[in-house]
Amino acid sequence: PPGLVITVDGPAASGKGTIASRLGAAYGLPVLDTGLLYRAVGVRLARAGGDLGDEAAAAAVARALTAADLDDPEFRTRGAGEAASRVAVHPSVRSALLELQQAFARQPGGAVLDGRDMGTVIAPWAPAKLYVTAGPEVRAERRRRQLAGQGEAVAFDEVLADIRRRDARDGGREAAPMRPAEDAVLLDTSEMTIDEAADAARRIVEAAR
Ligand code: C5P
Repeated sequence: PPGLVITVDGPAASGKGTIASRLGAAYGLPVLDTGLLYRAVGVRLARAGGDLGDEAAAAAVARALTAADLDDPEFRTRGAGEAASRVAVHPSVRSALLELQQAFARQPGGAVLDGRDMGTVIAPWAPAKLYVTAGPEVRAERRRRQLAGQGEAVAFDEVLADIRRRDARDGGREAAPMRPAEDAVLLDTSEMTIDEAADAARRIVEAAR
């Protein structure tokens, strides 16, 4: 495949979204936040009064989704993250979203994709793969601050419980569980500022491309 393709996977609030957008800016590549796809499916299904555990209903919502549907502030809420991880366990939801993600990855100029299974399922052929992590407490504090900035005040302990529940569900599911690709480079951002993490990511990509 032509162009530079960079996959950025990792758990919730690890810093992967920021790293993906910094890499996109640095290399002039389009960035796809694939978490938004699952968030959109969860929120739309819930809005329609559907049950997040209903695989057929969730897959129907996923099949109707287009890239133009992703620009909705509600997808960034705490509830949307939880809904996303509940619909993301369904294999037919994942397969309905596969083509859109792979088409994005195969753009002639290259792309950056951020998610859980970019390096393992969507673009296993990508030349540059990162797996971004940070300790659960660090991630919980980052997510707490982000939610507060959006006007959603949630206690640290509750955010930490969310993070642990999501880690367990995303890592424990049978369909495309969250895990680093064998050839991914691990980047632990626990002790890093955003700039330090972005620089470290850039060095990893330079070494891999
Ligand atoms: O990355 P973000 O927190 O927005 O993702 C929300 C949820 O969507 C994750 O917890 C995960 O369950 C699901 N997801 C996924 N595969 C991806 C991206 C997100 O299963 N590639």
